[in-house]
Amino acid sequence: MRNPQDQKNLQETSIEPLRFDVSGNLIRKFGRESISNKNVAILELIKNSYDAGAAKMEIDFSSVNTKDALISVSDNGDGMDYQDLKNKWMRIASQFKSKKLKNGDRTFIGEKGIGRLSAESLGKIATLFSFPKGKDTGYKVIFDWNKYQDENVLVNDVDNPTSQIKKKKSDHGLRLEIKDLNHDWNMQEAQIELLADVGILNPPNKPVRDFKVSAKFTPSLMAAPKIKKEFLGKAVYSLKTRLTGGSLIRYEFSSIKGKKKEGNRTTDRKLKCGDAVFELYFYYKSPKYFEQAVGKKISAIDSKEISKTLEHFSGIKLYRDNFRVKPYGDPKSDWIGLDIAAHNNSMYPRNDAIFGMVHISKSKNPAIVDTTTREGVIFTDEFQDLIAFVQTSIFGIFADLRSEFESHKTKARKKKNGAKNKTPIHVVVPVPTASPQPPDTLVEIGGKYPENFYNQLQDEINICFEHNHPNAAFFLCRKMIENLVFNILEKKFSTHVDLWYDQKRKIRHKFSVLIQNLYAERTNFGKPNIKTYIEKFNNEVGPFRKEANTKAHYVFEYLADKKELGKFKIKDLVQLLAKIYDNI
Ligand SMILES: Nc1ncnc2c1ncn2[C@@H]1O[C@H](COP(=O)(O)OP(=O)(O)OP(=O)(O)O)[C@@H](O)[C@H]1O
Ligand SMILES: [Mg+2]
Repeated sequence: MRNPQDQKNLQETSIEPLRFDVSGNLIRKFGRESISNKNVAILELIKNSYDAGAAKMEIDFSSVNTKDALISVSDNGDGMDYQDLKNKWMRIASQFKSKKLKNGDRTFIGEKGIGRLSAESLGKIATLFSFPKGKDTGYKVIFDWNKYQDENVLVNDVDNPTSQIKKKKSDHGLRLEIKDLNHDWNMQEAQIELLADVGILNPPNKPVRDFKVSAKFTPSLMAAPKIKKEFLGKAVYSLKTRLTGGSLIRYEFSSIKGKKKEGNRTTDRKLKCGDAVFELYFYYKSPKYFEQAVGKKISAIDSKEISKTLEHFSGIKLYRDNFRVKPYGDPKSDWIGLDIAAHNNSMYPRNDAIFGMVHISKSKNPAIVDTTTREGVIFTDEFQDLIAFVQTSIFGIFADLRSEFESHKTKARKKKNGAKNKTPIHVVVPVPTASPQPPDTLVEIGGKYPENFYNQLQDEINICFEHNHPNAAFFLCRKMIENLVFNILEKKFSTHVDLWYDQKRKIRHKFSVLIQNLYAERTNFGKPNIKTYIEKFNNEVGPFRKEANTKAHYVFEYLADKKELGKFKIKDLVQLLAKIYDNI
């Protein structure tokens, strides 16, 4: 056949135009496969309630540990009448909200028209109750998502049973009941993580007015982790930088001692991200370092509270119009590249010592948009410049001012006020960091390490692992695991020295003896969960213990690539030991 473009003199008659059809599968692609993170799914529903003008939104998980597990979310927003349901709820990827920026004084958070498919991501059946404001009829629609998976079914082939309900005019809002859940919400960790994510959905110092989210959980959950506004006031240093016009950075820096410094810096290249604000709060978790830096003691209560809050909330979060864009600032999402940079300069903060917020808005930063999969924002030049702004604020401004404030410690030369500020600040990008996704790690603490030193060791292990140096990673893991076992025995049996120290040879017991002693003492920890952890550890440590010795002693014994590390279950072993240590 000739190229169609060459077929000039053929007779042509219009026929029925072809149209795209959409397979029912699309629901799953936009639901479970896009909004795969269960917390993100819940947050999407919360954002919808906010957009619908709700003053209250409730998530109810109280039945998740029963046979008829159900999640329900309800709000007192505008609800939808039949036409709204048809034109808005039932129309996928409609850009309705992006055309209209506001509902009352609220800037719409939604824009893509797919967030409600979180309901598909969370469970197999969803029942929607919609009570439109000012009307006396409400609606109930049942979605059985499996029907969309039938072979050859198209999205609009599926009937979703719909009924109308008489209601009081004054009742309004939306309620979703989700059954046949796809995730296990029964574990305390899952509930705590969700509550932490809900707690930080808005900036702690700018709570959203007239919108309260409450959560009902199983009674076993005692206290939800909270970040209070006062926490920010307890930072040893705080920095606020404001980028305007792409090249002017105004900053305010203050220390807990009341010292303040303000100024302007211009950047040596224009940043394209649009105006943005960055806030950084830096803490010393160790009372010793706090005292060294600040010159006074920190109260035990403050110190404990700071560590606890950082445990749940540390990192730099991204906020658009005061709503968080995940996963930036999640544990292990080092999107600013702080943890590696901190190895090179002691004035650079690590993620676990800070709470930070980057503020952008739809109107000022229109080119920074979310990916459809809700896994972050699209990695455009504008977003890279936003990263560069934050890096410049930290590696340039924060590090300079901190070293000036701590000059007694760093012997940094005192700068003459303003002298340096005249030269444009170099937009630093010391660590190119693209992905908000967690890197592939070999060790990841599941509790608290006994000493700060372990964090550095963990970083080194993970860097070796990431750069494919499996033997180096392996030996460092041995150092970590051996020391953790030693620390556990020493903490629990501080007076029973023989368990961890060879008094005759005047050295610590060797690795295999430490493991044996830990196992032998498992019932003497007095807590059934510790006994279970130790038994699990003992079952899993075998291959690691054996090869840690042979690989250390024989030059011809080595790991050829990092995949081989998999069999040693190192992440598990470290997490079990950290849990044991935490529980003593
Ligand atoms: N709780 C609610 N109350 C009233 N209407 C709602 C509610 N949740 C969703 N809707 C309607 O359904 C539409 C679709 O919601 P969906 O979350 O899928 O898209 P969106 O919010 O417009 O964009 P995004 O995908 O960015 O969240 C919304 O635009 C809104 O009109
Ligand atoms: Mg939405």
